[in-house]
Parts: sequence; structure tokens; C-alpha cells
Amino acid sequence: MTDFVLILFGITGDLAKRKIIPAIYTLFAKNKINNFAVVGVGLEQANIREIFNRAKEFILDFDEEIFDKLIEKSDYVAADLNKLSDFENIKKSVLMQENKYNLTGNRLFYCSIAAELYGMVTQNCSQVKLLDKEKPNNLNNFWHRIVYEKPFGQDYETAKLINNLILKYVDESQIFRIDHYIAKEIVEAISFVRFTNRIFEPLWNNYHIDSVQIILDEEVCLEGRNLYYDKYGALKDVVQNHILQLISLVAMEPPQQLSGDYIRDSKVQVLRKLVPTDGFFGQYIGYKDESGIKSNSTTDTFVVMRFIIDDSRWSGVPFYIKTGKCLDRKTTKICIRFKHAYCLLSKSCPTEPNYLIISIFPEEGISIELNVKKPNSRSEIIRTKIDYCYSCIFEPETPQAYESILLDIISGERSISVRQDEIEYSWQIIDKIISMNLPMYQYKKGTSGPKELETFANKYNLEWK
Ligand code: BG6
Repeated sequence: MTDFVLILFGITGDLAKRKIIPAIYTLFAKNKINNFAVVGVGLEQANIREIFNRAKEFILDFDEEIFDKLIEKSDYVAADLNKLSDFENIKKSVLMQENKYNLTGNRLFYCSIAAELYGMVTQNCSQVKLLDKEKPNNLNNFWHRIVYEKPFGQDYETAKLINNLILKYVDESQIFRIDHYIAKEIVEAISFVRFTNRIFEPLWNNYHIDSVQIILDEEVCLEGRNLYYDKYGALKDVVQNHILQLISLVAMEPPQQLSGDYIRDSKVQVLRKLVPTDGFFGQYIGYKDESGIKSNSTTDTFVVMRFIIDDSRWSGVPFYIKTGKCLDRKTTKICIRFKHAYCLLSKSCPTEPNYLIISIFPEEGISIELNVKKPNSRSEIIRTKIDYCYSCIFEPETPQAYESILLDIISGERSISVRQDEIEYSWQIIDKIISMNLPMYQYKKGTSGPKELETFANKYNLEWK
């Protein structure tokens, strides 16, 4: 494994505490990375031990000795990211770490900060000569890679602006725009299942598929991220990225090969043809009383949308999405509903449709809902399921999304990165949805969402899964 320094901007933030530091710890504990050092950057005056301690409760299989060793390899710099002079201090710390641990100059810049700062951080890192722009066919012996977390921008215009700015200082090949959904094992498995089994592809079209649902329901509410959430809402927090990625993976044409840019080329074609046609927003009752939220906030904590894909494969097949916070369950799944079978059993007509369900949470797996014959009956049908529980079989070896993300970046594997055009097309879709002025309904915490869900289901003859 190559050596590197990880420069983590936003180490005092929520994501670093819950996901990134625990992922570094686990990779280190499992000896998947060892020749490295960390430089954390944040605004507050603190020391590295205090910062790491806040992440303790999110670490599985915690071991004090390993934790101490990780802290020893880490340094913290308090910096104002708008000040170039503070980047000289960050550089000093990076050089010191490289020297101390005899590292060769590979640098992983991780921006877990507000997207408004991406341009400034990239520019400042470049100006103090901490970050070099690499030629597309990098002949240097070292790499500099930079990670930008989601949401990448606020809308199409800001995303484009950020892209234009960062691309002055780094090459696209050095950039990793991250969406942790793409790094989930089961999400990666979608294309494998679809394209390595002959039985699926002939059915993957409007002759056989009736509709598709993508559901990302969450029990959690704001989890202390109130200010962030009020600025983005559900549409920009999870639809622009996770849900549009899932739609494009399900709907894409077969890529030339099952890897990197081939998959991105296919996914982008879906985003270009994806058209929102109807939907509504929701906000849970009590949202406006949450700390830091304005009493007239119109932020959405719930979204339902209906999309169509304007091409011959998907013509007439609606894609429904549903997501929300403070609901009665945490479930993430993709449900592909097939058309009714031709009816030969008059007593049971129409037969229930088959569903192919790709479950992302709570269990990771794939199941098919089937009609089978009820024993001792000539005409009755019962429903059954063929289940493949991915996590039950592979759980011990399955890395968490953030562990995969870090390992992929370190090894230069780019399939987890979202490309510039994907980001920009997805923001165009979000801008279009906002311009539709969809209605907003209220719902009670701990329920399945606004009661208008049912009206919407009736309108489209849809059965929410
Ligand atoms: C994050 C969102 O990107 O995804 C959160 O910012 C959301 O609001 C989370 O809770 C959902 O991810 P997962 O992996 O828990 O389904």
C-alpha cells in the first residue's frame, strides 16, 4: 500500500467525527493502511486528542492502544480557510509529518467542509505549493488527490462555478467528488447482478417493467445538523446525489465495460433524459421549533417525485422516489415492479405483479416476489419471496462505505467518483424540480409521511412498498 499524508479539512465537523475518523481507525486497526500520517484542519482551537476523542463512540471494536497510536500519527492545525497565511502553517505541518514518518510526498486532501469553501481551499493549497496540478498521464512518482464531499454546490450555477474554479488548480483525474452511496457494496452490486446474469437484461425495459420505486426513509431527524439541513433540505441533501445516482444505476444502458468512466458515461445519459413530472414536499410538524431554524422556514424534510426517462427503453415507465426525515422507519430500497403476467387462472386474475427488490438498508440484499401455487389447491395462488441476503453472507468482510472510499482513493480507483458532467446534470434536474413550485404538506413525526402520500398513490395507481 502506498504511503501518504491525509490532510483532513473539517476534522472538527460532524462527518469527520461520525464517519471519516472511524474509517481511518478501522483501516489502521485492520492494517489496511499503516504508512501514513494525518493533518487535521479546523477553525476551533483544540488539540488532536480532544478531536479524536469525540469520534470514539462511533468506532466499532475500539482498542485504546491502536487509538493512541493513531493519535500519535496525527497533528492538528487551527486555520481560517480564507487566509493564505494559515495555509503556510498547514504546509509546515504536512512537511513535518512527511519528514517524521519518512513519507514520499503522496497527499490526500479531504474537503469535509461547506462547498462554498472548495474553490478557496483548492486555490490556497495550490498557491502555497502544497497541492500540485498533475498532467493527465502523471509521470511523477507521487500523487496529489483531492476529495470533495456532497452536496457539491447549491444549484447548477454554483456547482459549475466550483468546477471551473477547482479545475484551474487540479486535473479532473485528481478529483474525487464523493457520494458514499456509490461506495456501498450492495449499490456496486446492482450493475454486477444486472449485467452478469442473462436472466435480467431481456426483462429490463418497458415491455416488462411497470414502474420503479426508490425509497430512502429515515427515522432520524436533524441529528444536530440543523443549520446545514435548513439550507439544503431533503431534495438537495439526498435526492440530488444518492437518489439520482440510484436511478441512473438502475436505468443506464449497458456500459461498454463494467468500470469507471464507462459506467459514468452510461449514467450521465440517464440524467440527461430524466424528467421530473409531478411530486410534492413535506415538512414535519415541529421542524420550525428546532433550534436555529427560522419560524417561517420552508425547507423540505420530505420529498416525493415522479420522473420519466425520455427514451425508448423506459418510455411509459414512471420512476417514483420517496424520502424523508423523522419517519416511522429507516429503510432504503429499490423496488422494480413488473407487469402482470397474462392471466390464465380466472379465479386469481389479475395475478399480483412480481417485484425485484434491491434492499440497501436494513439488510443488504436482493429478493424477488413470486406467485406460487397454494398446496392442495387447483386455483389459489400465494406470494413468496426468493431472498439473497448479501450482508448475512458477506457481513464480516464487507467494508463500511467510508472505508471503501478511502481505500479506493489511496489506490487511485476512480469508479466511486462522480464526474463533473454528472454533478452538473443532476443539479439541473434539482433546479427544474424547484421551478415546478410543488406543494408542501405537513406530517407528524414518527409516521410514514404526509397523508397526501395516499392521494398521490391513488392518482398513479401505485402501491408504496
Ligand atoms: C447523507 C445525508 O448524505 O446520507 C444524511 O446528509 C442522510 O442526511 C444520510 O441521513 C443517509 O445515508 P445512509 O448511508 O445512512 O443511508
